[in-house]
Amino acid sequence: MSKNSSRILEILRNSGNYISGEEISSKLGISRSAVWKSISKLRDIGYIIDAASNRGYRLSEGIDLPISDEIHRYLDTEYFGSEIVYMKKVDSTNDLALTLARQSAAHGTVVTADQQTRGRGRKGREWISPQGVNLYLSIILKPEVSPAEASQIPVLSVVASIRALKRIVPDLPFMIKWPNDIYCRGRKISGTLCEMKAEIDSVNYVVVGTGININMKQSRDSIRDTATSLLIETGNKYSRVKITVFLLEEFEKIYRKWLSEGNLEFIIEEWNRFSLLKGLEVDVRTPTRIITGKAIGIAFNGALKLELPDGSVRMVYAGDATLHGTTAVN
Ligand code: BTN
Repeated sequence: MSKNSSRILEILRNSGNYISGEEISSKLGISRSAVWKSISKLRDIGYIIDAASNRGYRLSEGIDLPISDEIHRYLDTEYFGSEIVYMKKVDSTNDLALTLARQSAAHGTVVTADQQTRGRGRKGREWISPQGVNLYLSIILKPEVSPAEASQIPVLSVVASIRALKRIVPDLPFMIKWPNDIYCRGRKISGTLCEMKAEIDSVNYVVVGTGININMKQSRDSIRDTATSLLIETGNKYSRVKITVFLLEEFEKIYRKWLSEGNLEFIIEEWNRFSLLKGLEVDVRTPTRIITGKAIGIAFNGALKLELPDGSVRMVYAGDATLHGTTAVN
């Protein structure tokens, strides 16, 4: 956002009511037409600014755009979100983040969007991404760890998402479904798609893309029975900006601890506490086969621990888990 737009936004916020174009132009020492141009740029971004003849401009309340200026009013992190690229409409925040990472974007750079036209889920699935209601966010990480260690990052991100959601709505029963989905009362509310560019022994970058259904009223027919949102669960609307801030703060905290500790031990108990499948008989579809067993938690390296019928314990590193004999989780 340009300096003029940012200063005008501040003036409109502080005024809380109509303020004339003339007053804004004299406060900033710029022409009336420069004021007008900046106002229309703010409107292009998505701000709703009322204009009334003889009264001037007024910022409509309750604007909740996950843009840099709004997030930085609250954000308290060192790296995560220092740079935020906001898109009104984008094919996928992960795709843009992957491009930026390749072009040497800094560690912690974040991409957010108001709408995705080709939101992507795991395994080539679609992530439904309507305009103006949910959170679509991708973080670029450049960890100095091995690719095997980087594969633990999804565990960090899902626990960060749970903590952020709990800060917003403490009483909702959020549960983690391995590997990194969040469910609420049997329907999915959040998912994460982690993508990595690596050499055999070093990581170039990781993009962690998280979608959280926040103010979506009703799921599209195709996902009505399987997806939910905070609004559907509580009847209330929540701030995308606040959830973004909480997510970045929690994620950075967990990420730093993970780097200093070198493994997931500090987070295993929390993960297991929120695990939807713990203690249940599940089928895990791996890239090569279906393994059936009792889910007994996750290991220090993020693998799902399955107790097999013969009593042995098997680690599963990648796949999709469902309740045994079904295609659903509940
Ligand atoms: C899944 O549950 O399969 C993962 C869903 C991940 C969706 C998010 S929304 C932000 C980011 N951009 C994408 O295209 N996907 C992720």
